[in-house]
Amino acid sequence: MKGILLVGGSGTRLHPMTLAASKQLLPIYDKPMVYYPLSTLMLARIRDILVISTPDDLPQFRRLLGEGSRLGLRFSYAEQPRPEGIAQAFRIGAAWLAGEACALALGDNLIHADHLSSLLRAAGARGQGATVFAYQVRDPERYGVVSFDDAGRAVAIVEKPSDPPSPWAVTGLYFYDRRVGEFARAIRPSARGELEITDLNRLYLEEGSLTVERLGRGCAWLDAGTPDSLLQAATYVQTIQSRTGMLVGCPQEVAFRMGFIGAEDLAREAAALGKTELGLMLAAIAAGRHP
Ligand code: TTP
Repeated sequence: MKGILLVGGSGTRLHPMTLAASKQLLPIYDKPMVYYPLSTLMLARIRDILVISTPDDLPQFRRLLGEGSRLGLRFSYAEQPRPEGIAQAFRIGAAWLAGEACALALGDNLIHADHLSSLLRAAGARGQGATVFAYQVRDPERYGVVSFDDAGRAVAIVEKPSDPPSPWAVTGLYFYDRRVGEFARAIRPSARGELEITDLNRLYLEEGSLTVERLGRGCAWLDAGTPDSLLQAATYVQTIQSRTGMLVGCPQEVAFRMGFIGAEDLAREAAALGKTELGLMLAAIAAGRHP
């Protein structure tokens, strides 16, 4: 399975911070925002990743992430000239995708949960259909919203409803089978002129092949698209890391734990971060001095 990391968009809700810088390169505590969704894709064992961003910002992502071999990954890069919708990623990536199954992660989403890796691998292993993750929030009207019948089956999915039918928001992590390119070609721009990911998900729902995994109380899902949520995400990461000594959303650590790289590779990555707290924590993991 391949993965797309979508790090474009205009970031208008974070102006003026995003007038001259990409939203997904802003810090969430001690790491650039893009590290968090990248770590999520890696936890799903995805190693072949297409990074899509604006023509202005793409060079910066190349500079940060490189071609990927240092982390046992392979990065490709593609431009999205204008932010014409999340589902456009599959049209932009059609040739690279070459008819394979693919997961998509939004660059401003952070998911942190126990057993996340096994949940993600199960989603990736489902041969047919699509899997999305839903999370209960207080402001579902900002997101795609799923409603369920009494048996817990997803029955409808709507984008940014003014009167949300349920509190279950669809998170920015999606798994699709090999037909995703074909399905993405079939959808048309919405009234706001975007190729909506909700319309793509609805095609799977209507044929009965959309799995909606509900993330429960033990999970955290944060998006960092506004000043408040950016600060909340930073505080969350800082709290967990300083309390437990365990890292959140660190691709170097995930690469090591997933067996993509060895201890020596991790030690080199740690050294590159110098005497930062993050570098010291990675060095301890590489040296086996950390659980
Ligand atoms: P949004 O938060 O919906 O949009 P945005 O990032 O442009 O921000 P704002 O609403 O403040 O203007 O996008 C969610 C994620 O998807 C985010 O990581 C940006 C990315 N995205 C693209 O890369 N291309 C697109 O066409 C869209 C709509 C979003």
